[in-house]
Amino acid sequence: MEPEHYFPSPSLLLTRWWTRETVAVVTGGNKGIGFALVKRFAELGVSVVLTARNKQRGEAAVETLREEGVGDYVHFLLLDVSDPLSVSTFASSFKAKFGPTLDILVNNAGVSYNELEENSVEHAESVMKTNFHGPKLLIQALLPLFRRSSFSITRVLNVSSRLGSLNKVRNADIRAVLEREELMEEEIEGVVDMFLRDVREGRWRKEGWPSYWTEYAVSKLALNAYSRVLAKRYSYEGSGLSVNCFCPGFTQTSMTKGKGTHNAEAAAACAATLALLPPHLLPTGKFFSLGRAATFLNATSKL
Ligand SMILES: NC(=O)c1ccc[n+]([C@@H]2O[C@H](COP(=O)([O-])OP(=O)(O)OC[C@H]3O[C@@H](n4cnc5c(N)ncnc54)[C@H](OP(=O)(O)O)[C@@H]3O)[C@@H](O)[C@H]2O)c1
Repeated sequence: MEPEHYFPSPSLLLTRWWTRETVAVVTGGNKGIGFALVKRFAELGVSVVLTARNKQRGEAAVETLREEGVGDYVHFLLLDVSDPLSVSTFASSFKAKFGPTLDILVNNAGVSYNELEENSVEHAESVMKTNFHGPKLLIQALLPLFRRSSFSITRVLNVSSRLGSLNKVRNADIRAVLEREELMEEEIEGVVDMFLRDVREGRWRKEGWPSYWTEYAVSKLALNAYSRVLAKRYSYEGSGLSVNCFCPGFTQTSMTKGKGTHNAEAAAACAATLALLPPHLLPTGKFFSLGRAATFLNATSKL
């Protein structure tokens, strides 16, 4: 399916539906795209919970925003998405502080341990825990805290990657499972388990998994598939929940050792626009990707 160009006009932001009461959570908010996104939300007048797995780094990020004059409505909460206990503690802290008022959840935190030209799968378990199981657990823990009302739509934006596109999977059987219209959560877990088994048993190279940044690509493949299942489950009309994925493109952050076609601010500006689309223009179950040099955004009709 050819991607379509999407909302090239920044004037969409003039359709402001949010207020200071609108609450966003951004994971991995202490640096990179996450930090730039927290800043963008704060500049646009959204209240943001900046989360980070390290207290000092998280608090320092909030302090930087205060010094820049945009920190008044930014709060910090500790969250290591790869740790189920941290996820449930975070959900309880959020509930105690804000109640069931979550409007926007951006699952941004992510890891890759490879240099750009490497392809080790040494950290496959940890990458899967952070990039796939983490967002999944967090969404499940926060579902009861989503605001969802007849006036607002809660938005889940999963920061993913084109590397996790189905067309990167060379094994036709795996692709067939993930392409199924009736795909179930358990089947995605099954694919992830199969990959981890192939890694443990040293077979992963010949089993047709994505060939570049393999462990990272499989984690994002699973995240995309889960987003699709979720979007379908809450298929939007009346459910008050929208779930989309966003690939920021090759962005200059620590993950790419500063290489990339654009900076974190450009990627974050696009992510913010997406997360803040007015309700009548907000899709669900879409995969958005930022085009080269961050000049346009593509949307495929299906994840
Ligand atoms: N940069 C790109 O070219 C690119 C392309 C496509 C997709 N992406 C995606 O964009 C997202 C942001 O990446 P980035 O480029 O901004 O990378 P980054 O600068 O390395 O930032 C990653 C963030 O995730 C946090 N993080 C890692 N593991 C975590 C965990 N277990 N719990 C909570 N936070 C954790 C990091 O915290 P610490 O500081 O504590 O490590 C950091 O705040 C990721 O999901 C990445 O996969 C990036």
